[in-house]
Amino acid sequence: MAYLLGLDVGTSGVKALLISEIGAVIGTASQEYPFSSPRPGWTEQDPEDMWNGTAKAICQLLAETAVAPSDITGIGLAGQMHSAVFLDESLSVIRPAILWNDSRTTAECREMEETVGRDLLFAEACNPALEGFTAPKVLWLRRHEPESYKKLRWLVLAKDYIRLRLTGELKMELSDAAGTLFLNVRQGVWSEAIMKRLELSMEVLPPLVGSTEIAGALTSQAAEITGLAQGTPVVGGGADNACGAVGAGIVQAGRGMISLGTSGVMLAHLDEPRLTEGGTIHMFNHAAAGKFYMMGVVLSAGLSYRWFRDQLGQLEVGLADQLGQDAYALLTAQAARSTAGSQGLLFAPYLTGERTPHGDGNARAAFVGLSASHTRRDMIRSILEGIGFAFADCLALLREAGWQGSAVRCIGGGAKAQLWREIIASILGLQVQTLNNDEGPGMGAALLAGVGTGVFSDLREASDTILTVTSTVDPNTEWAEVYQELYPVYKGLYKALKPSYDALADRA
Ligand code: XUL
Repeated sequence: MAYLLGLDVGTSGVKALLISEIGAVIGTASQEYPFSSPRPGWTEQDPEDMWNGTAKAICQLLAETAVAPSDITGIGLAGQMHSAVFLDESLSVIRPAILWNDSRTTAECREMEETVGRDLLFAEACNPALEGFTAPKVLWLRRHEPESYKKLRWLVLAKDYIRLRLTGELKMELSDAAGTLFLNVRQGVWSEAIMKRLELSMEVLPPLVGSTEIAGALTSQAAEITGLAQGTPVVGGGADNACGAVGAGIVQAGRGMISLGTSGVMLAHLDEPRLTEGGTIHMFNHAAAGKFYMMGVVLSAGLSYRWFRDQLGQLEVGLADQLGQDAYALLTAQAARSTAGSQGLLFAPYLTGERTPHGDGNARAAFVGLSASHTRRDMIRSILEGIGFAFADCLALLREAGWQGSAVRCIGGGAKAQLWREIIASILGLQVQTLNNDEGPGMGAALLAGVGTGVFSDLREASDTILTVTSTVDPNTEWAEVYQELYPVYKGLYKALKPSYDALADRA
């Protein structure tokens, strides 16, 4: 029996997943690693911690599953997107990685718009300059840490760095390269024009590799540290969102997905690139070769719910502890006792700014309409609804770009809450489906390894073989009427509050 290993190098930790050649999950192991916030709005991580966590997770997985390392015939990697790992001449890390959710680069985004120009950015990178993307982080390094910048020889992303540690080969994989803003997305090559306008050397950009292409083989040193077999092939892998999409079968036109994790993602497969006016819907190369996907990002989806749990949900947290239950399940049960529209209470979920559709690092969250008669139930429900409305903003842009799907597959921790799925279905007017398999990006990475090593003939075949829809939720017509009335009110919130967000921005 052949086995495939998928590694998801995330923000809070790494997850290792082992599947069989028929896609059955054999085991998983996770390791957390820290990230630091040296200043408000900054997020950084030590790539050495990512590597140590990855090695430990693999050792743990091998110990728990007792699969012979020589039976693992391929390894794939998924990774947090955009996070910049800066390497010197000897491939050593120069400074901590600057992560995707770091918002220090507003000035550099404006600089990019001026020097590159929106026209060239959209023509080549197919995306606007946003704080989270990689290019502005390189400009920030050049301006603020010239000593580090002088040492910069190679730029890589999180999972590409881990692949380097596994194989000794320095490469950047295409679907992740799309999130740097240095790639010509349509042609799948580095953009000389963008690099020239930014006066950056093409030399810092590693050779590109495709998601299912074999990028290297496990070195003897990595084999010793991880317990895997020397020579095991490692494929390019993909950006975590691209791999999440592969793992959920979003590899053909018309298919779409919502991921309810810390951030929320609404994503649709595309055969051809398509652009929208404002550009806060991202357009990236898919891990399915020659294909694309567009995606809206709601920065604080699960994060909003976690914030409520941690700050105002002590009652449920305590009760859950005593009863051995999940605090979120108890919170959701409370929300179910409110009504559609949360008795006239709205929540704008911009705890950490917003990507889609506002592209605004200053935006902040708000409960609007709170009155003396509201209860915690209404507050909880309004959070679930506010995130649903944020996805409605994403859907409007996907529709503008021509997506015609009528259902979305829902993955991630939040997908477990039936009430949340029903709220989202009713706000979006889409059927919300769940799958038998919700392993996320790690599953996509393992499938990419399977295609790259010939275990599966293509991604469509692979995902269709292993995935089935296990539940569907259709819009509740009564709720949908309420939400149709409330959506324009929700949309008005950002515009009305914008001056207040800007006025408060420097006081945080
Ligand atoms: C996508 C993005 C996040 C990260 C999370 O543009 O920034 O979804 O990929 O790891």
